[in-house]
Amino acid sequence: MVRVGILGATGYTGVELIRILSNHEDVQIKYLSSQNFNGKKIEDVYHSLKGFCKVELQELNIDDIVESCDVVFTALPSGYAMNMAEKLCKSGVKLIDLGADFRFDDFKTYKEWYGVSSDVYGSVSRVYGLPEIHRDVIKNAMIVGNPGCYPTSAILGLAPALKSGIIENHIIIDSKSGVSGAGHSPKQGNMYAECNESIKPYNVAKHRHIPEIEQELSKLNHEDTKVVFTPHLTPMTRGILSTMYCRLKKDISIESIHEIYSEFYKDEYFVKILDIGEYPSTKSVYGSNFCHIGLEIDRHSNTLIIMSVIDNLVKGASGQAVQNMNIMFGINEAKGLKMVPVFP
Ligand SMILES: NC(=O)c1ccc[n+]([C@@H]2O[C@H](COP(=O)([O-])OP(=O)(O)OC[C@H]3O[C@@H](n4cnc5c(N)ncnc54)[C@H](OP(=O)(O)O)[C@@H]3O)[C@@H](O)[C@H]2O)c1
Repeated sequence: MVRVGILGATGYTGVELIRILSNHEDVQIKYLSSQNFNGKKIEDVYHSLKGFCKVELQELNIDDIVESCDVVFTALPSGYAMNMAEKLCKSGVKLIDLGADFRFDDFKTYKEWYGVSSDVYGSVSRVYGLPEIHRDVIKNAMIVGNPGCYPTSAILGLAPALKSGIIENHIIIDSKSGVSGAGHSPKQGNMYAECNESIKPYNVAKHRHIPEIEQELSKLNHEDTKVVFTPHLTPMTRGILSTMYCRLKKDISIESIHEIYSEFYKDEYFVKILDIGEYPSTKSVYGSNFCHIGLEIDRHSNTLIIMSVIDNLVKGASGQAVQNMNIMFGINEAKGLKMVPVFP
């Protein structure tokens, strides 16, 4: 049995981790932390967990975590995990951070975009936890930086096109996200009366996921790759749709591109390439760890249009984190994650 701790257990990704892990036969949830609900059982805070998890929420205490856990998920705001990483690793506890602390190869980039500071950052080694691309290094990692939600949808959508060299180095990513992407703390712009029946762009040309996407695309592309990225808030609870526009280098048929994508993901359980002429919808992956990708060519501008959907709380966060845990502990990668999407 893998003994698990979840820090930030009362947040949206924390609760989603508990939902998924409650169905995982090889896992025991041993430790849950929160900031404002300590002393309560998680099933009394969120009734969706009634009868599934009776663990009491505690104040974060690193010694207790080390004693009771083999792996810790940090579902905290960015900037907290990095300060406990060294101690956890030295004590043999693996760490999967759902925040951004361990997503960057270069601390300078992280500091510039997130404004964090820490002198321990450089002293711990970690890997970027996108299993479909980095599975081999995740296997032996002590620390995994779980990817952001928008980057997961974008990188999975773009990887085959970049790897095969069919597109130019000029990529436009237009993404739409559900409101749960912003977490459970109240924010004025996320209130029902303000976001219902409305769609709006935010953080245009300055969203923090830009450097993360560029870091990973540059590795796939073997050259410095920049993106234009515009996220939008949409009136739905979960889901991300990323539509990506890429100029094709040469004349190539949609059948050939479809073949490139199908081949690239042929052994992947969680990525499904839709048939030619089919377009994905967030509803088709709701509550699941799947990523659906649709492809189209706009002939008159010679542009490849890639459409990628995920559930931001599952493949975009907690499901992917459990996928990483399975890989790190030698468990079947899809264990606990074979949920059929909720429809309608
Ligand atoms: N939401 C998504 O779709 C998504 C996707 C990918 C990655 N992420 C990342 O995952 C992390 C968690 O996101 P979330 O959406 O679950 O956030 P959230 O709903 O706001 O939850 C944050 C959690 O952290 C706890 N917390 C906040 N400040 C704390 C502090 N100073 N000390 C200890 N605990 C503290 C909160 O406790 P209380 O409940 O007591 O307030 C809560 O349990 C973030 O880094 C986020 O960027 C989120």
